Amino acid sequence: MSKPIIIVNCKTYPQATGKAAVELAKHCEKAAHAYKADIRIAVQATDIAIVAKAVKIPVYAQHVDHTAPGQSTGWITAHAIKTAGARGSLLNHAEHRLGVHDIAKAVDALRHERLDSIVIAEDVHRLHEIDLAVPGATLLSIEPPELIGGNVSVSVARPEIITHAVVATTKPLIIGAGVKTRQDLDIALRLGAKGVLLASGVVLAKDQTAALKNLLS
Ligand code: G3P
Repeated sequence: MSKPIIIVNCKTYPQATGKAAVELAKHCEKAAHAYKADIRIAVQATDIAIVAKAVKIPVYAQHVDHTAPGQSTGWITAHAIKTAGARGSLLNHAEHRLGVHDIAKAVDALRHERLDSIVIAEDVHRLHEIDLAVPGATLLSIEPPELIGGNVSVSVARPEIITHAVVATTKPLIIGAGVKTRQDLDIALRLGAKGVLLASGVVLAKDQTAALKNLLS
């Protein structure tokens, strides 16, 4: 039985920016050892290098553009995040939406650099569309936007979304939105997900270590 995948998304929260991102990554690494969990952290592009240098757990970007390295200005390339030490990137988060064509090209750019791609959809229809149009994605994820940042997880509020999403995809699926507790994680795993994506429950916690314990113990 493989370990559940836990991806902590720092978003652009000040509580997970710069040195705070490094501190959170260290808490995640300690929890990964303590609970024998596969914990990964998605940081802002400006924090990839400092976080990847500080921890051994996988560090992801939150987005990459499909632009090829070279004569282009102001884009985030797969080559650049690889050079900074990233192991992959989230794509198409509800807070940074892309068209399917751009998702496919960004996944190709990540694959070229041998990096993971975690493509996120807002509903089961979109998830199925992405599964068909983007065969090279590493993991797929579903996050109902209306539950993101809230106090009730998708596991508790809309478990049927997880069940339908598992059936709608050919790839391993992780779920997110409101996830905070061991119950949220266990329901997701029982329904066929391979792990969870979460943010506010850990990043905004007064005690981030205790929040990780609340999810994993
Ligand atoms: O990418 C995961 C994130 O969107 C979930 O946010 O605050 O509901 O855990 P949150």
